Amino acid sequence: MEKDQITQNADTSQNVDTSQNVLMLDNVSYRYDGAKKPVLKNLNAAFARGKIYTIVGKSGAGKSTLLSLISGLDVTTGGDILCGEDSLNKIDRDKYRAQNIGVIFQGYNLLTNASAVQNIVLSMNISKSPEKDKKAYAYALLERMGIDRETADRKILKLSGGEQQRVGIARALAHNPEILIADEPTGNLDKETENDILEIFQNLAHTANHCVIIVTHSRRVTSIADVVYGIKDGMLAGYCSHGTGPEKV
Ligand SMILES: Nc1ncnc2c1ncn2[C@@H]1O[C@H](COP(=O)(O)OP(=O)(O)O)[C@@H](O)[C@H]1O
Ligand SMILES: [Mg+2]
Repeated sequence: MEKDQITQNADTSQNVDTSQNVLMLDNVSYRYDGAKKPVLKNLNAAFARGKIYTIVGKSGAGKSTLLSLISGLDVTTGGDILCGEDSLNKIDRDKYRAQNIGVIFQGYNLLTNASAVQNIVLSMNISKSPEKDKKAYAYALLERMGIDRETADRKILKLSGGEQQRVGIARALAHNPEILIADEPTGNLDKETENDILEIFQNLAHTANHCVIIVTHSRRVTSIADVVYGIKDGMLAGYCSHGTGPEKV
């Protein structure tokens, strides 16, 4: 990444249809308890439906901290995050997590002794899904992610890494959230499997109109992004924003 490509706190939202915005960072800062310096300083950004965003930055830059704020696991110590009109500082964040956001974990975070379909149904029970036939819904969702019925009935520990990641994505989608976030979703996968997973993310954003936010080190992942943000020195820099992927990363 060339330094001169970075515009600090660039407002990349200006090229985006703002009616599709689902999430706004409004001067977001975050300082861990007892820490001298803030990890994040006055971040401004907009995230829209139908787009893929990647967040890049060195280890320790604050990427996971930002994801924990976006996912409502922690609250900002300055500024605000808005989901539609609602401030995450004020709304019921448990409800926000159960309805608006789906999280894809790097280590998949699945129950390894349960089957793929059981993992999805369990998650639907926790988020109080109104779906009548949860099992049929879960099989259909897994099918969409490329997991057939035979594989769906197998225990997680008998699935490959790529299959587990598909199940992880299906689980994040089980309550049909507008926003999907993923921390290094292809970090443990080979190139071919990474491509398959990236195709799923592209369909989810560009066809199913989800807002997809991915933290990654992988250039292949940033190559499918509509918008790439970098975190450096606690600040957010936008590199580019248009429909065909970033010019340069
Ligand atoms: N619970 C915590 N308490 C204090 N400092 C933390 C805590 N978690 C992370 N940090 C610090 O905040 C900075 C950003 O961490 P993190 O968001 O995990 O970075 P990244 O995901 O970009 O590697 C790092 O310097 C890290 O040491
Ligand atoms: Mg991290």
